[in-house]
Amino acid sequence: MPRTIFEPFRIKSVEPIRVTTREERTRLLDEARLNPFRLRAEDVLLDFLTDSGTGAMSARQWAAMMDADESYAGARSFFRFEAAVKDLTGYPFVIPTHQGRAAERILFSVATKPGDVVPSNTHFDTTRANLEHDGVEPLDLVIPEGLQPRTRHPFKGNIDLARVEALLAGRGERVPFGMITVTNNSGGGQPVSLANLRAYADLLHRHGKPLVLDACRFAENAMFVKLREEGQAGRTPREIARAMFDLADGCLVSAKKDGLANIGGFIALRDERWVEASRNLLILTEGFPTYGGLAGRDLEAIAVGLEEVLHEDYLAYRLRTAEYLGEKLLAAGIPIVEPTGGHAVYLDARGFLPHLGPEDYPAWALSLALYLEGGIRGVEIGSVMFGKRLDDGTETYAPMELVRLAFPRRVYTQSHFDYAAEVIVEAKARAPEVRGVRIERQARTLRHFTAELRWA
Ligand code: F0G
Repeated sequence: MPRTIFEPFRIKSVEPIRVTTREERTRLLDEARLNPFRLRAEDVLLDFLTDSGTGAMSARQWAAMMDADESYAGARSFFRFEAAVKDLTGYPFVIPTHQGRAAERILFSVATKPGDVVPSNTHFDTTRANLEHDGVEPLDLVIPEGLQPRTRHPFKGNIDLARVEALLAGRGERVPFGMITVTNNSGGGQPVSLANLRAYADLLHRHGKPLVLDACRFAENAMFVKLREEGQAGRTPREIARAMFDLADGCLVSAKKDGLANIGGFIALRDERWVEASRNLLILTEGFPTYGGLAGRDLEAIAVGLEEVLHEDYLAYRLRTAEYLGEKLLAAGIPIVEPTGGHAVYLDARGFLPHLGPEDYPAWALSLALYLEGGIRGVEIGSVMFGKRLDDGTETYAPMELVRLAFPRRVYTQSHFDYAAEVIVEAKARAPEVRGVRIERQARTLRHFTAELRWA
């Protein structure tokens, strides 16, 4: 039996990749003020900036888009979308939004008040920023293994139940609901076990608090559960995904990930409590409740995507992709977050560039080195993203310094990943030459998107 897990699709439409030289990339990066977000995408060879909205759609999705109903109110495409979300989650109330952060902003505006605390394993950057914007404290309570890049654990995305319990005992009246991110993007794309979800949900429910999933990568999480959790191997990814949603009371979803769509998101809820206020806010800022900032064709793409993403051959290939690159890097002695997550490989910049201190922003520096070496664009998940400059001019730093190489769904082939491995190994050979960086200009929130930097 051949053992290669291949891409379970054929390619019928292609886009060229423009090859650049190191000299060109040096100039382009200087022009971008050493911020990969400011590069033009055509100047990137392999774009691993994000897996969000960057996937390739299937022929079935494109066909559904042609068949879309663009009516303002009550469009057929909305009812297809709503049925797909209900069928997946079992939640009766479905509110479309233009992407995940719109879902966050709306639900948080409705369900929190200033001074509240919302626990999660790790809040994603937009989730954290939206909570803080409303005067709410986002609290990251991932298990200790989740903060140790080299420690192997099958479910490094699990939440630390003892710390949740302590929070509920001490400041319970301030907690409007609990959240958990599946998979835990900012912590390495690591999964959460069903057992941990169940215990977390029970704990919250005993205190009368709902559980809201940040379910952007629910399908990848379900596949990890199938592969790693005892007693789950015989279930389909769809059944496991449903078991995850069954444990919670609602979800916030960016359909740009496991929705296999280029844009879109939704809020889905089990009971009516937050629904009316959310819909009113939706009308104010996103659109009528049957399109919520999306075109009918986007709703169609998501409806089909939510079904396709749970195909087991797709998920096996999807998780194998990260594992494959991870194996090559580990064999070359490159420090990564272990085991590899679902949508990305995370390089441990402290191990890669041990000569740099936190004030050098080592993960940012590493992301620049990868671009210079081979035109690969990753994203820093470190102190530029999660640190802060306080009013007195001092800096706070992130607990980990990672570079995330996130993989667009169904876009790159195995030889692209072979190339990526070669580039990273070559960058490691030159690591001692990599300098730190300094921030010259920054915004007060989400500074990584627009910051301008220089070499130290
Ligand atoms: N929650 C998680 C866990 C995410 O990963 C993202 C987006 C969001 C919420 C927000 O969704 O982008 O549709 O508004 N993550 C992207 C990424 C941007 O690159 O990881 P959005």
